[in-house]
Amino acid sequence: MSKLFYHPTIKLLKILILLLLFLGGDFGSDNNNNYCYVEAFKVPFRVKDVLPVLPHQISWPVLNNLHSAVDLLPYFVGSVSPDNGTLQWKGACFYDSEARLDFALADSDHDPALGGGLLRLKTSAAHSWTCMDLYVFATPYRVTWDYYFSAREHTLKFDSWEEAAEMEYVKQHGVSVFLMPSGMLGTLLSLIDVLPLFSNTVWGQNANLAFLTKHMGATFEKRPQPWRTTINPDDVHSGDFLAVSKIRGRWGGFETLEKWVTGAFAGHTAVCLKDELGNLWVGESGHENEKGEEIIVVIPWEEWWELSLKDSSNPQIALLPLHPDVHAKFNSTAAWEYARSMSGKPYGYHNMIFSWIDTIADNYPPPLDAHLVISVMSMWTRVQPAYAANMWNEALNKRLGTEVLLLFLTCSRPSSSICGINSK
Ligand SMILES: *[C@@H]1O[C@H](CO)[C@@H](O)[C@H](O)[C@H]1NC(C)=O
Ligand SMILES: *[C@@H]1O[C@H](CO)[C@@H](O)[C@H](O)[C@H]1NC(C)=O
Repeated sequence: MSKLFYHPTIKLLKILILLLLFLGGDFGSDNNNNYCYVEAFKVPFRVKDVLPVLPHQISWPVLNNLHSAVDLLPYFVGSVSPDNGTLQWKGACFYDSEARLDFALADSDHDPALGGGLLRLKTSAAHSWTCMDLYVFATPYRVTWDYYFSAREHTLKFDSWEEAAEMEYVKQHGVSVFLMPSGMLGTLLSLIDVLPLFSNTVWGQNANLAFLTKHMGATFEKRPQPWRTTINPDDVHSGDFLAVSKIRGRWGGFETLEKWVTGAFAGHTAVCLKDELGNLWVGESGHENEKGEEIIVVIPWEEWWELSLKDSSNPQIALLPLHPDVHAKFNSTAAWEYARSMSGKPYGYHNMIFSWIDTIADNYPPPLDAHLVISVMSMWTRVQPAYAANMWNEALNKRLGTEVLLLFLTCSRPSSSICGINSK
């Protein structure tokens, strides 16, 4: 009835990738004129760094094996706050990296009361002369990114804090610094790998198939025509399973990543139900109602089939009948009872989060970590208030047993006890 095959990581991956795609960011401006100063020469270069200048026959096969969508996940190196001195870490390119943050006056065209900030980042001990480090700097109010090619002190200016709350936030929690572990090239290549997945074109569809082939070892065989089969509802029984795989457009892209992370070859599932009169129904989560909310529905087979045929995400549908032994044990009465009790209920964001987050910081499979998750989530709250509200509010309401509590998250460091949740 709902998505049986999902793994929470993918939801976060989706959100993160969406954030990267839609938020964009300010490119730093202090990188343009320093490509001649190179400090460390210990290792001449890494093959990754010089790939773009190698002949295609050599570089493409290598490229195709280096990057993957996981390279899009930033790695949390720490947070810098004005009162907390210098943060030091080992970068992917610059082994000695450090940063500190000072409050500064706001730019003249901004509210002087808000003030701004100046992040000073020092890079040294590059492991090769061609590498660079790519960073994402985040508060719940913004995401900025910058890349460093030379070993020296760089500055990143926050012209003005968005609002007093951001200044207060930075004072208490600092600016979170994330390293893109695969560097500029790896990150761009991963984006090149992932972006086309979302395109609602034949090209996008081929990109999805290619991604599944490459990353999951899937094989695709073109079926002979007709591609639209005719299903006689009389042949379908309660409990028969519908495995759906969308391969085109926005949902196609999401489902591709979902399959990749979960290892499942379906991105969505639904269940068939027969009523006492012999009519066939489909129970499914994720239908939009008149108010634009995604809910659980039980709809007539004919309607479901019609919608699927019209679906621009080009769903591949497998109807999987229950094995006769299992069918014999399937309790249709109980299934209907459950389906009726769930009909009209929200999609299930509450399950999505709290079915797996039950510790403060230990639930995240690498390379996810609590800082990344919470930063993405709190940024997401600002970028997509409606979606985020779904997730957090449904989730927290479920956990707290409340109905209408609306929450506003102000936490970026869940591993510390400072983390707070404000009721609004
Ligand atoms: C400040 O630094 C200390 C020690 O390095 C660390 O434990 C603490 O979490 C930092 N606080 C902030 C707000 O970054
Ligand atoms: C089927 O489910 C119904 C409702 O939950 C229950 O009353 C009934 O005993 C079940 N039948 C069997 C054979 O388990």
